[in-house]
Order: sequence, then C-alpha cells, then structure tokens
Amino acid sequence: MSERFETEVAGTRLVLVRGDITTQDVDAVVNAANPQLTPGGGVSGAIHRAGGPELTRAAAAVRRERGPLSPGEAVITPAGNLRARRVVHTVGPIWRGGRHGEAELLARAYRSCLALAVEHGLRSIAFPSISTGVYGYPVEEAAPVALGAVRWFLREHPGALDEVRFVLFSDGDLATYRRAWEGLPEPAVPER
Ligand code: APR
Repeated sequence: MSERFETEVAGTRLVLVRGDITTQDVDAVVNAANPQLTPGGGVSGAIHRAGGPELTRAAAAVRRERGPLSPGEAVITPAGNLRARRVVHTVGPIWRGGRHGEAELLARAYRSCLALAVEHGLRSIAFPSISTGVYGYPVEEAAPVALGAVRWFLREHPGALDEVRFVLFSDGDLATYRRAWEGLPEPAVPER
C-alpha cells in the first residue's frame, strides 16, 4: 500500500497520508483535544509538546474564557512553534458502542473544524483520526464518517480550501481510510 493517496473533491485536494500531525506544513492542524484543552496524551500531548508553552497558554486562555468544549465543537488558537500557523482544537465523541450519537458528533467535529478554517481564511488543514485512540472509536467505523463529513463540507463550499489532509499514524489506519474512501456511498439525502 502506498504511503500517500490523493484525490479531488469540488476543487479541493483531499490527501490521505501516513505521518505525524505535528510536522505538517499546512495553515492549520487539528488537535484531537479534551474538553479542558489541556495537553493530555496522544495527538494532543504531541501537539502541545511541539507547539510549546505559547500554544498551551493560548489553549488555557480559550478554556478560561469560554468553558470546556462539548464533543463536536471546535476552537482556534495560534500554533506556537509548529510549522502550521494555527491549531484547531476539537473534541471527538467517546465511543460507547455506537448507539449514543457517536457518528453524528464525530461528523460535527470535522465540520466545525472546516468551518472555523474557512472563517479564518485558512486554505489548508490537516486532521488526525479523531476519537480513534484514547476515545476508543473503532477506526473502521470512524473512517467513513470522517471522510463523508469532509466530502459533504467540500461539496457545500466548493473551492473554499486548497487542501484537506488526513494524517494517519499507522499503515493500518491509512489502509482503512483508503478503503473507506473507495467504498464511501453516495448519500441518498444530503449528509449532515
Ligand atoms: N500524529 C498523527 N496521529 C497520531 C499522533 C501523531 N503525532 N499521535 C497519535 N496519533 C493517532 C492515534 O494513533 C489515534 O489513531 O491519532 C488517533 C487519535 O488518538 P488520540 O490522540 O488518542 O485522540 P482521541 O481518541 O480523540 O482521544 C482524545 O486523548 O490525549 C487525550 O487529551 C486527549 O482526552 C483526549 C483524548
């Protein structure tokens, strides 16, 4: 399996790549955050480590100002020492078996991030696989939801972004996202 897959959706490049979210040269990287916006582990720990104290302070200030984030919400901060200009922090759902609105919340998290990026005039954004680590969302279930949400947004906002990149941490996750993209059904009704 190749380490990179690229396609196009309504004028935006959609890239699936194996890699580390903290080293991406995009306008914004997405953090799979916790509601308190503290560093934590996984993606969030790595982003805060690489971004440095400026990023952690900025996230804490947002948290103080607006309170904890609910699953599906997103906020934006400067990116400290990261190559990216901004970090978009979102909270994915915790997996509780799949019948507690997890898919809807996961889709909302992706859409919230994309909407914030467009609102702030950013042209490229990189996502990790939100919720599929500590939060326990099975990656086979999460991948079609993530890709469906992004495809829907890009079709609704043609040309608003140059690139949306999924940065998958393992070959297995990259292969799962690739298969999910190939098998993504066209919606009978608009995806929301
Ligand atoms: N780059 C890209 N992907 C990464 C990286 C990295 N540097 N580090 C981990 N991953 C992958 C994980 O392997 C997993 O597939 O990102 C996916 C999401 O994992 P988590 O970071 O655990 O995110 P999530 O499941 O949304 O859990 C969020 O974890 O760290 C805590 O504070 C955070 O409580 C929050 C929870």
